[in-house]
Amino acid sequence: MEPRIERTLISEVQIKQRVRELADDISRDYKGKIPTLVSILKGGIIFLTDLMRDLTVLHEIDFMSVSSYDSGMETTGVVRILADLSRNIEGKDVIIVEDIVDSGLTLDYIRHILLARHPRSLKICTLLDKKARRLVEVPIDYIGFEIPNEFVIGYGLDYQEKYRNLPYVAIMVPNE
Ligand code: PRP
Repeated sequence: MEPRIERTLISEVQIKQRVRELADDISRDYKGKIPTLVSILKGGIIFLTDLMRDLTVLHEIDFMSVSSYDSGMETTGVVRILADLSRNIEGKDVIIVEDIVDSGLTLDYIRHILLARHPRSLKICTLLDKKARRLVEVPIDYIGFEIPNEFVIGYGLDYQEKYRNLPYVAIMVPNE
């Protein structure tokens, strides 16, 4: 049984406008620098590819693939690196680009891994922030939208690996 989409939470137009605003902020903050945007696969890729096309500063991109060690239903926050960055980030201005921060555990772990590699700076940009679910505080520098504690799909976010292609973010209700 396929899930039911209850309603659109953030429309395509709203996303486009907010992504442009975030890109403007980043372009202003990184004027004269060449930041490396690090996308955490897979959810972050749609946001990354839209964001980078709105940037007016030179930049590089790189990817990391991680999987969390789960204990039953809940993530433990311990992350295994499945695919690492292709380049050394020492001395670089790095921006982690995520689709969503939920408990914060994944990002907290990745942040510490990357900080140990001595980037010149490390900032975090997320399209969605589900603050109500936060278990560990992570410093987020750029936030697209704060969202309620609902299961959301679309614009990179999946339900069983599908629906990442939706151009909007929707609230999903699983079918019984
Ligand atoms: C999502 C999202 C973040 C993480 C956030 O990835 O992209 O990486 O969960 O959750 P947290 O704040 O509770 O740690 P997911 O593990 O669903 O993988 P995906 O990006 O491949 O869909």
